[in-house]
Amino acid sequence: MTDRLLRGRLLTFHRAPADQNDTDAFTYHEDGAILVREGVIAASGTFDAVAPTAPCADIVDHRPHLMTAGFIDAHIHFPQAQIVASWGAQLLDWLNGYVFPEEARFGDESHAQAIATRFFDVLTEHGTTTAAAFCSVHAASADAYFAEAERRNMRMIGGKVMMDRNAPDTLRDTPQSGYDDTKALIERWHGRGRAGYAISPRFAITSSPQQLEMAGALATEHPDCHIQTHLSENREEIAFAASLYPEASDYLNIYERYGLLGGKMLLGHCIHLEEREVQCLAETGAHPVFCPTSNLFLGSGCFDHARLDKAGIQSAIATDIGAGTSYSMLQTLNEGYKVLQLQSQSLHAMRGFHWMTRGNAEVLGLADRIGTLDEGTEADIVVLDARATPAMALRMDRVETLAEELFVLLVMGDDRAVAQTYIAGEPHKETRR
Ligand code: GUN
Ligand code: ZN
Repeated sequence: MTDRLLRGRLLTFHRAPADQNDTDAFTYHEDGAILVREGVIAASGTFDAVAPTAPCADIVDHRPHLMTAGFIDAHIHFPQAQIVASWGAQLLDWLNGYVFPEEARFGDESHAQAIATRFFDVLTEHGTTTAAAFCSVHAASADAYFAEAERRNMRMIGGKVMMDRNAPDTLRDTPQSGYDDTKALIERWHGRGRAGYAISPRFAITSSPQQLEMAGALATEHPDCHIQTHLSENREEIAFAASLYPEASDYLNIYERYGLLGGKMLLGHCIHLEEREVQCLAETGAHPVFCPTSNLFLGSGCFDHARLDKAGIQSAIATDIGAGTSYSMLQTLNEGYKVLQLQSQSLHAMRGFHWMTRGNAEVLGLADRIGTLDEGTEADIVVLDARATPAMALRMDRVETLAEELFVLLVMGDDRAVAQTYIAGEPHKETRR
């Protein structure tokens, strides 16, 4: 396989920037290069330093565009791609009215396969190179998801949802079948190529105590798998969960009682938290996932990032398609910026770009493989054009700094700003030279 040398402006993070002026937190090269060899970043730096090390490489000139690590979406629902923008309901009615009927269609394997192809195309077009996804209750939906990811050599995390109550017959497993199917999927997919399995009890409302016990057993038996679920998204949801688990001191305590908390756990939403829950998240290292477009769309509430950050908790950021309204991590940050503005918490652009790349990679425990342009990591790369639309080009005429450009991308950008996406070094769009 021929080496490929990508030339363009280059931005990668070493840690979360404290503020706009924290230049030690990142590396930026005006004329940068990334040398890709067999799907891995063999070198990155200035063009003048890297190019002589690879005289035979194919050069792809992306100047004046900006190259960053591929975007990471830490919470998305694969079987909800065809119900994005479903009108007029808050969480529980939206689940019953739109989500459950839609997810029932994924019992048909050929349907799951057809949607997987289009789903991965859309992710890649938006610059997302890794995601943590919930599949439907059907094992075949997870098979379709992982098989498609494998065909594209994408680093994807996912799992079939475990749900044995408060859902239609066609969407319920049992504590035993949920355990058996999950176990078989872990054996089939976890660690195969770039796949990672996430044990996925949907949320406390749709899992009986027996099922959460089984989920806890799976987490103990497979400590290197992720665990993903939902927590404290909506007031009615919280009250319903409390009624189903009267012995629990709060919502998070339900999952805590079944041994699910730890650094591998991703908890979507975490909006309406008690103080004890914040302390418990901090002590166990479990990670909240901020889903701004979803939280606004369902009217769920405002994620209090500053409160969690102050407690030493590292949160991820995600689209939450299909309650989320955009696949774009840029648009997710745009809405995230506004949610935080409502609480006088201002997210700066450097922090935003760090969050959807290295930050999410750290939360997933994968920063040694993805989320940066560091040598030895996997070559998942996005190429961004801050002048992609006439409105962006007009705005860019007045932009003077990198931080300003990043903020324009974050507020005005979407898939149109993604000039190219590389998955393990392979371009998604026909390579422009
Ligand atoms: N809580 C439980 N399931 C879901 C889901 O599919 N989407 C959202 N937004 N919240 C949930
Ligand atoms: Zn979700």
